[in-house]
Amino acid sequence: MKISFVKYGLPSTGIVVVTAVSDGKLSESAAKLDKKTGGALTRAVRGSRFEGKKGQTLNVIAPAGTRLDRVMLVGLGKAKDMTVLEMQKLGGRIYAGTLQAKKGLVVVALDAVTDAKLSAAEMASEIAFGANLRSYRFDKYKTKLKPENKPNIKTLRIACTGFANARKKYGSLAKIADGVFFTRDLVSEPPNILYPDTLAKQAKTLEKLGIKVQIFGESQMRRLGMGALLGVGQGSVRESRLVVMQWNGGPKGRGKIAQPIAFVGKGVTFDTGGISIKPSAGMEDMKWDMGGSGVVIGLMKALAGRKAKVNVVGVVGLVENMPGGNAQRPGDIVTSMSGQTIEVLNTDAEGRLVLADALHYTKERFKPKFMVNLATLTGAIIVSLGSHHAGLFSNNDQLSERLTRAGEDVEERLWRLPLSDAYDKMINSQIADMQNIGGRGAGSITAAQFLQRFVGKIPWAHLDIAGVTWSKSDEPTVPKGGTAFGVRLLDRLVSNNYEN
Ligand code: BES
Ligand code: MN
Ligand code: ZN
Repeated sequence: MKISFVKYGLPSTGIVVVTAVSDGKLSESAAKLDKKTGGALTRAVRGSRFEGKKGQTLNVIAPAGTRLDRVMLVGLGKAKDMTVLEMQKLGGRIYAGTLQAKKGLVVVALDAVTDAKLSAAEMASEIAFGANLRSYRFDKYKTKLKPENKPNIKTLRIACTGFANARKKYGSLAKIADGVFFTRDLVSEPPNILYPDTLAKQAKTLEKLGIKVQIFGESQMRRLGMGALLGVGQGSVRESRLVVMQWNGGPKGRGKIAQPIAFVGKGVTFDTGGISIKPSAGMEDMKWDMGGSGVVIGLMKALAGRKAKVNVVGVVGLVENMPGGNAQRPGDIVTSMSGQTIEVLNTDAEGRLVLADALHYTKERFKPKFMVNLATLTGAIIVSLGSHHAGLFSNNDQLSERLTRAGEDVEERLWRLPLSDAYDKMINSQIADMQNIGGRGAGSITAAQFLQRFVGKIPWAHLDIAGVTWSKSDEPTVPKGGTAFGVRLLDRLVSNNYEN
């Protein structure tokens, strides 16, 4: 879908979207149309439950007195309650409500709203962003899709005063959406197509944006001593990979690149559970067990795309967790790159093994300001938080607060859970430094305690995104499927705190 911004005015044909605020008061454009149509809009409003509340829409089809196909009246809610996020959702709803239109053009005639905190131009760019986010589709494997079953909006045109500013603001929002789409694509790909090598190659394509991308194979990881990560991948015929991405858009200190921030992702391209094999029902969901790495890769794309003024490192550990003659056994003891030994009591608790080496490597090589890792780590976090918050675990209150704040800003919400010595003890092993599962209970916390043993003193946070990575329902700015939860959140963390 093409999105454009043009000067304020009403089209004379096609579909036009106009607004009203709570109590049903029509915008200037809407009032103009109402007059032209001999009061058709007012009559339609009176005959319906439309009151201009947020989320409400009312369609007036082919009103007499015009050559328009449709007037779509959308509610903005109370002027003083209008927010950036509400505008994005409105954009998503406009898209969803017009995608079946026969003609490929939809025009939004946007008026400034008295008493609103947002200008018409700000409203316009956010509506565009929301519509774009909602327009995502993953249909490349549908070979029999008829044109009439595809969405038909080709162009969304927003007419407002200050359209040049809207266009400019939308420029960087579109780059964030590009990152979100990249993540959604990666998460949606089937596991026979997307495996460690092909996922690493996808990351490599970011070089064209100026990101430095290094790919490590198994022999290099063996030399680095990454026994925890390698043990997970050893049952698969697909070789494991570690990918290191660097975007240096920030300051240089004394000729050197100043200390970066770092994001680390779990990239299990398919999680069968290994020898501790999972039940078959729903196992197909484990194609998105690389969601954490997908977010890190999409985030790098977004940051480089909008030329963020920050030095950032993205590291992803990519493995396939399979049973097989050479697979890791329950009871194996592996030595991680940190030197700490791990008794693998359950081969299905594999994500933490991958992250143990990825985190330690990132800490040692880059000595970052902080590390945030993302992982579809535990089923237990879905039991605790469902799909409306991701789990947040951290050794640092400031980082934790900044993450929580960024999550509120973009409505990718986080909920902090505790870490403590008492939980840490639960993963002590009889015969090794630790074991990879705790006892009964607190499964998400013991997983986080495990990760904490590999981050040293660096400010660190772990986001358990198992419940939020895949959506079963269409939401205003997130169609069902891969959500890319985390891309907008971490982009906002960066723009709120680490640029300039
Ligand atoms: N990838 C899973 C966690 C998961 C479950 C993600 C459901 C998304 C949806 C992870 O590797 C796993 O298998 N965790 C185990 C840990 C257990 C063996 C301690 C779990 O949650 O059951
Ligand atoms: Mn698992
Ligand atoms: Zn897993």
